Amino acid sequence: MNKIHAAITGVQGFVPKDVLSNEDLAKMVDTSDEWIITRTGIKERRIMKDGASSDMAAQAVQALLKKTNTDPAEIELVVLATVTPDYPFPSTANVLCDKVGMSNAWSFDLNAACSGFIYALSTASQFIETGKYKKVIVVGVDKMSSIIDYEDRTTCVIFGDGAGAVLLEPNQEGLGVQDFILHSDGSGREFLVQPAGGSMNPASIATVENRQHFVKQEGKQVFKFAVTNMAEVSAAIMEKNNLTSDDVAWLVPHQANLRIIDATANRMGLPKEKVMINIQKYGNTTAGTLPLCLWDYEKQLKKGDNIVLSAFGGGFTWGAVYLKWAYNS
Ligand code: UT7
Repeated sequence: MNKIHAAITGVQGFVPKDVLSNEDLAKMVDTSDEWIITRTGIKERRIMKDGASSDMAAQAVQALLKKTNTDPAEIELVVLATVTPDYPFPSTANVLCDKVGMSNAWSFDLNAACSGFIYALSTASQFIETGKYKKVIVVGVDKMSSIIDYEDRTTCVIFGDGAGAVLLEPNQEGLGVQDFILHSDGSGREFLVQPAGGSMNPASIATVENRQHFVKQEGKQVFKFAVTNMAEVSAAIMEKNNLTSDDVAWLVPHQANLRIIDATANRMGLPKEKVMINIQKYGNTTAGTLPLCLWDYEKQLKKGDNIVLSAFGGGFTWGAVYLKWAYNS
């Protein structure tokens, strides 16, 4: 029997309708459209005004199930990546399954910040490759607006809200996830962190007054690590799988900063036309960026395309996944 690979057989995104533009932000903090565009590539982002991460995930998954003619009861496992769960517990994956009627699935959340989707995809793919399951859903979702300080110009211009989901099914034609390289280094926690609300600093009047429930980032430090590690791991997965830049059809990079994306593409020797970019309209949606890119570019993808997904995020966490696209849409 041919080896079983975990293939993406459908992708769907969801972004809330409310737009927060650079011009809107310039009225809230001391910034400008020109600064944000030049330093990050972001023009606008979406904000979820009513509802939680599970609501965005539910919108994406419901549409995904419809599009792939899948009955919610057929789903066996849901792996959901997020740093903005509905609650500390129960998991957002549990809430999502209830909202969508995936009553036969077991489900859990996974936290790897901006690398959440590649961690979740790699984890979920194991359950398909072993032959254990036939239908698994992977979700990347974040409602970053719930943990962003809209008085802090160094973070509020970067992040946005959104969700994306993929269906994974077995493939025995050699298509699907081929390989992954994942890393983490917890010594990076001081540079990108939500300081309070966990067991380290439980919520108190002082933590609220000190604005410690919001994301804190030392942008320059994170940039240095991100630009090096995302480029290195993307080149490493190509080398490990004997892929030249001609062999790679698409790079799907985490959308944190256009300059980090450019450095990664350069290191891989890829021209701009092979790089998925939607940062200008959604900003950094953390675990949502990669499935939102696949969703935006789905119509351009062809069966057999070699695709490298790569990300870097809080933790630090980083890595790359190499897959062969499994369908023409
Ligand atoms: O997705 C998870 C991983 N995160 C990342 O990958 C993010 C990595 N970091 C970055 O993308 C960049 O570091 C930022 C976009 C966050 C910042 O860009 P930068 O080019 O590194 O700027 P900087 O932090 O060095 O700040 C340059 C200047 C500073 O002013 P001074 O000290 O030179 O006077 C900042 O105070 O820009 C100032 N500044 C701003 N000015 C206008 C910082 N934020 C803003 C702002 N508008 N929003």
